[in-house]
Amino acid sequence: MVHPHTEIRFVNDIIGWGVFANRFIPKGTIIWALDSLDQHFTPEQVAAMPAYAQRQIGIYAYVDSRSNHILCWDHARFFNHSCAANCLSVGYDFELAIRDIQPGEELTDDYGTLNPAETFPCHCGSASCRQSVLPDDMLRLGERWNHAAREAFFLIPKVHQPLWEIVRDRTEIEAALAEPPRLRPIHHHYYARAVGA
Ligand SMILES: C[S@@+](CC[C@H](N)C(=O)[O-])C[C@H]1O[C@@H](n2cnc3c(N)ncnc32)[C@H](O)[C@@H]1O
Ligand SMILES: [Zn+2]
Repeated sequence: MVHPHTEIRFVNDIIGWGVFANRFIPKGTIIWALDSLDQHFTPEQVAAMPAYAQRQIGIYAYVDSRSNHILCWDHARFFNHSCAANCLSVGYDFELAIRDIQPGEELTDDYGTLNPAETFPCHCGSASCRQSVLPDDMLRLGERWNHAAREAFFLIPKVHQPLWEIVRDRTEIEAALAEPPRLRPIHHHYYARAVGA
Protein backbone atom coordinates (compact mmCIF):
# COMPACT_ATOMS: atom_id res chain seq x y z
CA MET A 1 0.00 0.00 0.00
CA VAL A 2 1.30 3.40 -0.92
CA HIS A 3 1.51 6.40 1.46
CA PRO A 4 -1.80 8.28 1.73
CA HIS A 5 -0.26 11.67 0.84
CA THR A 6 0.37 10.68 -2.77
CA GLU A 7 -1.56 10.81 -6.04
CA ILE A 8 -1.09 9.93 -9.71
CA ARG A 9 -0.13 12.71 -12.12
CA PHE A 10 1.00 12.80 -15.73
CA VAL A 11 4.79 13.13 -16.15
CA ASN A 12 5.35 13.28 -19.92
CA ASP A 13 4.65 11.38 -23.15
CA ILE A 14 7.69 9.11 -22.74
CA ILE A 15 7.32 8.16 -19.07
CA GLY A 16 3.52 8.35 -18.79
CA TRP A 17 1.94 8.66 -15.34
CA GLY A 18 3.73 8.68 -11.98
CA VAL A 19 3.21 8.95 -8.23
CA PHE A 20 3.51 12.43 -6.69
CA ALA A 21 3.53 13.75 -3.13
CA ASN A 22 0.60 16.05 -2.36
CA ARG A 23 2.08 17.01 1.05
CA PHE A 24 5.55 17.21 2.53
CA ILE A 25 6.93 13.70 3.25
CA PRO A 26 10.00 13.69 5.51
CA LYS A 27 13.07 11.49 5.03
CA GLY A 28 12.61 8.19 6.88
CA THR A 29 8.89 7.90 6.05
CA ILE A 30 7.72 4.48 4.85
CA ILE A 31 6.18 5.41 1.52
CA TRP A 32 5.15 1.90 0.42
CA ALA A 33 4.73 -1.45 2.17
CA LEU A 34 3.80 -4.82 0.71
CA ASP A 35 0.28 -5.70 1.86
CA SER A 36 -2.08 -8.64 1.67
CA LEU A 37 -3.97 -7.29 -1.36
CA ASP A 38 -0.85 -7.26 -3.56
CA GLN A 39 -0.83 -10.25 -5.93
CA HIS A 40 2.04 -12.76 -6.21
CA PHE A 41 2.63 -14.80 -9.36
CA THR A 42 5.24 -17.53 -9.76
CA PRO A 43 7.29 -17.60 -13.00
CA GLU A 44 5.22 -20.64 -14.06
CA GLN A 45 1.96 -18.74 -13.54
CA VAL A 46 3.29 -15.82 -15.58
CA ALA A 47 4.43 -18.17 -18.37
CA ALA A 48 0.90 -19.61 -18.53
CA MET A 49 -0.73 -16.18 -18.93
CA PRO A 50 -1.92 -14.84 -22.27
CA ALA A 51 0.48 -12.45 -24.03
CA TYR A 52 -1.43 -9.28 -23.08
CA ALA A 53 -1.28 -10.20 -19.37
CA GLN A 54 2.43 -11.05 -19.57
CA ARG A 55 3.00 -7.59 -21.09
CA GLN A 56 1.19 -5.92 -18.19
CA ILE A 57 3.16 -7.98 -15.68
CA GLY A 58 6.38 -6.95 -17.48
CA ILE A 59 5.47 -3.27 -17.12
CA TYR A 60 3.76 -3.13 -13.71
CA ALA A 61 5.08 -5.98 -11.55
CA TYR A 62 8.43 -6.23 -9.81
CA VAL A 63 10.37 -9.41 -9.09
CA ASP A 64 11.22 -10.45 -5.55
CA SER A 65 14.22 -12.48 -4.37
CA ARG A 66 12.35 -15.76 -4.99
CA SER A 67 11.59 -14.71 -8.58
CA ASN A 68 7.90 -14.16 -7.84
CA HIS A 69 6.24 -11.31 -9.73
CA ILE A 70 4.47 -8.91 -7.37
CA LEU A 71 1.66 -6.81 -8.80
CA CYS A 72 0.57 -4.00 -6.49
CA TRP A 73 -3.16 -3.40 -6.36
CA ASP A 74 -3.02 0.37 -5.79
CA HIS A 75 -1.13 3.25 -7.42
CA ALA A 76 2.17 1.86 -6.11
CA ARG A 77 2.34 0.19 -9.52
CA PHE A 78 2.77 3.64 -11.10
CA PHE A 79 6.15 4.32 -9.45
CA ASN A 80 8.62 5.39 -12.10
CA HIS A 81 12.36 4.78 -12.11
CA SER A 82 14.91 7.51 -11.49
CA CYS A 83 18.69 7.11 -11.38
CA ALA A 84 18.49 9.67 -8.55
CA ALA A 85 15.57 7.95 -6.78
CA ASN A 86 14.15 9.56 -3.64
CA CYS A 87 12.72 6.25 -2.36
CA LEU A 88 14.64 3.04 -1.71
CA SER A 89 14.40 -0.16 0.24
CA VAL A 90 16.57 -1.89 2.77
CA GLY A 91 16.13 -5.66 3.07
CA TYR A 92 12.44 -5.67 4.05
CA ASP A 93 9.17 -5.42 2.13
CA PHE A 94 8.81 -1.66 2.27
CA GLU A 95 10.34 1.47 0.73
CA LEU A 96 11.53 4.57 2.54
CA ALA A 97 11.84 8.22 1.57
CA ILE A 98 15.63 8.62 1.52
CA ARG A 99 15.36 12.41 1.29
CA ASP A 100 12.77 14.96 2.30
CA ILE A 101 10.11 14.99 -0.44
CA GLN A 102 8.36 18.29 -1.17
CA PRO A 103 4.68 18.67 -2.11
CA GLY A 104 4.39 18.26 -5.90
CA GLU A 105 7.61 16.23 -6.18
CA GLU A 106 7.48 12.85 -7.92
CA LEU A 107 8.27 9.77 -5.83
CA THR A 108 10.65 7.47 -7.67
CA ASP A 109 12.50 4.29 -6.96
CA ASP A 110 15.39 2.55 -8.68
CA TYR A 111 14.24 -0.34 -10.87
CA GLY A 112 17.72 -1.81 -10.45
CA THR A 113 16.60 -2.84 -6.94
CA LEU A 114 13.58 -4.71 -8.36
CA ASN A 115 15.27 -7.46 -10.37
CA PRO A 116 14.40 -6.29 -13.89
CA ALA A 117 14.39 -9.17 -16.38
CA GLU A 118 15.86 -7.04 -19.15
CA THR A 119 17.90 -3.89 -19.67
CA PHE A 120 15.61 -0.89 -19.25
CA PRO A 121 16.35 2.29 -21.26
CA CYS A 122 16.09 5.24 -18.88
CA HIS A 123 14.77 8.73 -19.64
CA CYS A 124 14.75 10.00 -16.06
CA GLY A 125 16.67 13.14 -17.03
CA SER A 126 18.67 13.28 -13.79
CA ALA A 127 22.27 14.52 -13.92
CA SER A 128 23.37 11.06 -12.79
CA CYS A 129 21.25 9.14 -15.33
CA ARG A 130 22.80 5.74 -16.14
CA GLN A 131 20.90 5.63 -19.50
CA SER A 132 20.23 1.91 -18.96
CA VAL A 133 19.07 0.00 -15.89
CA LEU A 134 20.62 -3.47 -15.90
CA PRO A 135 19.36 -6.71 -14.31
CA ASP A 136 22.53 -6.96 -12.19
CA ASP A 137 22.85 -3.31 -11.14
CA MET A 138 22.49 -4.53 -7.56
CA LEU A 139 25.97 -6.05 -7.79
CA ARG A 140 27.57 -2.69 -8.66
CA LEU A 141 25.28 -0.20 -6.93
CA GLY A 142 23.85 -2.18 -4.00
CA GLU A 143 26.35 -0.78 -1.50
CA ARG A 144 25.56 2.83 -2.49
CA TRP A 145 21.78 2.18 -2.24
CA ASN A 146 22.30 0.45 1.05
CA HIS A 147 24.16 3.40 2.49
CA ALA A 148 21.41 5.86 1.49
CA ALA A 149 18.57 3.65 2.69
CA ARG A 150 20.25 2.77 6.00
CA GLU A 151 20.55 6.42 6.92
CA ALA A 152 16.79 6.85 6.36
CA PHE A 153 15.98 3.60 8.16
CA PHE A 154 17.16 4.96 11.50
CA LEU A 155 14.72 7.89 11.17
CA ILE A 156 11.75 5.47 11.12
CA PRO A 157 10.84 6.03 14.80
CA LYS A 158 11.30 9.80 14.49
CA VAL A 159 8.73 10.62 11.78
CA HIS A 160 4.99 10.01 11.37
CA GLN A 161 4.40 6.54 9.83
CA PRO A 162 0.83 6.10 8.50
CA LEU A 163 1.78 2.69 7.01
CA TRP A 164 3.40 1.23 10.13
CA GLU A 165 0.51 -1.07 11.01
CA ILE A 166 0.67 -2.89 7.66
CA VAL A 167 4.47 -3.31 7.63
CA ARG A 168 5.51 -6.95 7.95
CA ASP A 169 8.53 -7.99 10.03
CA ARG A 170 7.85 -5.23 12.58
CA THR A 171 9.58 -7.20 15.34
CA GLU A 172 12.70 -7.65 13.23
CA ILE A 173 12.67 -4.02 12.22
CA GLU A 174 12.42 -2.91 15.84
CA ALA A 175 15.31 -5.26 16.67
CA ALA A 176 17.43 -3.69 13.90
CA LEU A 177 16.56 -0.19 15.09
CA ALA A 178 17.81 -1.15 18.56
CA GLU A 179 20.82 -3.10 17.29
CA PRO A 180 22.02 -1.72 13.89
CA PRO A 181 24.21 -4.70 12.87
CA ARG A 182 20.97 -6.72 12.61
CA LEU A 183 19.68 -4.52 9.78
CA ARG A 184 19.22 -6.53 6.59
CA PRO A 185 21.07 -5.18 3.54
CA ILE A 186 19.23 -4.31 0.33
CA HIS A 187 20.97 -7.31 -1.28
CA HIS A 188 18.39 -9.42 0.54
CA HIS A 189 16.05 -8.57 -2.39
CA TYR A 190 18.41 -9.65 -5.13
CA TYR A 191 17.37 -12.49 -7.40
CA ALA A 192 20.43 -13.79 -9.24
CA ARG A 193 19.15 -14.80 -12.66
CA ALA A 194 20.78 -17.72 -14.41
CA VAL A 195 22.95 -16.49 -17.29
CA GLY A 196 20.81 -16.38 -20.42
CA ALA A 197 17.56 -16.75 -18.42
C1 LIG B 1 5.73 0.55 -13.30
S1 LIG B 1 5.28 1.42 -14.73
C2 LIG B 1 5.18 3.06 -14.13
C3 LIG B 1 3.91 3.78 -14.60
C4 LIG B 1 3.95 4.24 -16.02
N1 LIG B 1 4.71 5.48 -16.11
C5 LIG B 1 2.57 4.42 -16.61
O1 LIG B 1 2.18 5.52 -17.00
O2 LIG B 1 1.82 3.43 -16.66
C6 LIG B 1 6.79 1.28 -15.63
C7 LIG B 1 6.81 1.94 -16.96
O3 LIG B 1 6.92 3.37 -16.84
C8 LIG B 1 7.83 3.90 -17.80
N2 LIG B 1 8.99 4.47 -17.09
C9 LIG B 1 9.18 4.49 -15.76
N3 LIG B 1 10.34 5.08 -15.43
C10 LIG B 1 10.93 5.44 -16.59
C11 LIG B 1 12.15 6.06 -16.92
N4 LIG B 1 13.02 6.48 -16.01
N5 LIG B 1 12.44 6.23 -18.23
C12 LIG B 1 11.56 5.83 -19.19
N6 LIG B 1 10.38 5.24 -18.94
C13 LIG B 1 10.05 5.04 -17.66
C14 LIG B 1 8.21 2.74 -18.70
O4 LIG B 1 7.30 2.70 -19.77
C15 LIG B 1 8.02 1.55 -17.79
O5 LIG B 1 7.81 0.34 -18.49
ZN1 LIG C 1 18.10 7.59 -15.51
